[in-house]
Amino acid sequence: MGAGNRDSWASRIGIIMAVAGSAIGLGNFLRFPAKAAANGGGAFMIPYLVALLLLGLPLMWVEWTLGRYGGGFGHGTAPGIFNSVWRKNRFIKYLGVIGIFGPLVIFIYYTYIESWTLAYSFFSLTGKLAGVTDQQGMQSFLRGYQGLEVNQHFGSIRPAYLFFVATFFLNFAVVRNGIKGGVERICRIAVPVLFACALILMARVLTLGTPNPAEPTWSISNGFGFLWNPDFSALRSGRIWIEAAGQIFFTLSVGIGAILTYASYLSREDDVTLSGLTATSMNEIAEVILGGSIIIPAAFVFFGPHDIRTIAASGVFNLGFVTMPQILNQLMFPGFFGFLWFFLLFLAGITSSISLLQPSIAFLEDEFRIGRKKAVWIVGAVAFVLCHFPVFLLRYGVVDELDFWGGTFFLVVFATIEVILFAWVFGIHNAWNEMHRGADLRVPVIYKFIIKYVTPLFLLVILSVWLWQEWMPVIRMENVSAESRPYVLGTRVVLALMLAALALAVKLAWKRRRARGEDGYAA
Ligand code: PHE
Repeated sequence: MGAGNRDSWASRIGIIMAVAGSAIGLGNFLRFPAKAAANGGGAFMIPYLVALLLLGLPLMWVEWTLGRYGGGFGHGTAPGIFNSVWRKNRFIKYLGVIGIFGPLVIFIYYTYIESWTLAYSFFSLTGKLAGVTDQQGMQSFLRGYQGLEVNQHFGSIRPAYLFFVATFFLNFAVVRNGIKGGVERICRIAVPVLFACALILMARVLTLGTPNPAEPTWSISNGFGFLWNPDFSALRSGRIWIEAAGQIFFTLSVGIGAILTYASYLSREDDVTLSGLTATSMNEIAEVILGGSIIIPAAFVFFGPHDIRTIAASGVFNLGFVTMPQILNQLMFPGFFGFLWFFLLFLAGITSSISLLQPSIAFLEDEFRIGRKKAVWIVGAVAFVLCHFPVFLLRYGVVDELDFWGGTFFLVVFATIEVILFAWVFGIHNAWNEMHRGADLRVPVIYKFIIKYVTPLFLLVILSVWLWQEWMPVIRMENVSAESRPYVLGTRVVLALMLAALALAVKLAWKRRRARGEDGYAA
């Protein structure tokens, strides 16, 4: 069966920018600095780099290759792609459901946080943010905005909802124009612009010097030392390895299905090895060089090594939405730099969230033969309803719960399935040849070994350690306050229902296409 009239990329640079746009996101500029700082800076970077080479990069190639392969059979999402790889297995398509579910779950909370960055860009421009002078004020500004408390900053007005709706519609305004007309067009502009914003901010941070005369050791170079001086003793903790692996997946957008879908719009002879490596490198430059050179050194020179850890540990958002604006307020032109910072986050965010929508849309288009406009409407309606959970239930830990399942747990599970299918079911020789079809770069053969043994084993170990250490506390909601438990439980029920609904949809799609006598649709 041919690929029919599926959408496609207009240029090679287009898909590279789109994948880089997906990868470079809030994860690079907020999650990475917070994780690195909370895990002791230099101690974190070793497992991080190991995970990049043994998990992240191999999975990037696996997803590009599997995606392009599935696209050749007209499938842009994991159920169809897995089925194309393992035709005799009736069950494998249901495991593919995670590849639509995961991105949708991340989208549900990611878009809400993305909307804060739009709001804060606006508050920087209007000067509302520059009026807040101390840490406490900045914290209550954020809490007031999030609707967690009523205070002098916002009273009972909730602009957060308006900014959420605006962000939501901007996302759909992009995806309704399809791959080359929407995603590719916006990423080709937004990705370079976000790099420019980040470079300017980095240059400003590098010239901060030692702004606190009472603390001469709080210098920029020690700020970098905080991130780069390795601490080998910390490597004995299992936790740090799991955190580092989780960050690598999240930041590269791999192990979830988003890149699988993007790659399905390639044609058979398009290169995947060099393009995948390029997108990975762009993400790592944005994360380690730019992401690592803005918040951490800036927070270090103003607050010192002790406080930076406390702030980071107090919540992923505090560094970005409380500490950073507070620092910028002490510089000249706080409105301008504040805008640069939050607008950078917004661009990074939107180029990621559109990639989270595409799997759901592609699933309806490819497997149900629904037209793009209609598919976008259906996904829009469902996503809109679901997004209301984090918007209104933030205080009950719903965002953390969604991030745990969508942004951590299922990422590792799905990555494991993908790499085993690729190396063991498809077979590493086939897989290696498929990966190198039309390739502009020959991947060093050591990666054949890594993909076959090291990556799956590494993933299985992480998964087992994790289950061993955390399964019971997570199931019993031991770290959730009594007040939040009903909401966390409710979130889990909704997630389970989503999984079930998607599995049913897969069943239905296959039944229909089998009835039409289409090839490759075994029960
Ligand atoms: N990679 C994005 C970030 O760093 C988040 C993301 C994860 C996007 C998974 C798509 C898929 O923010």
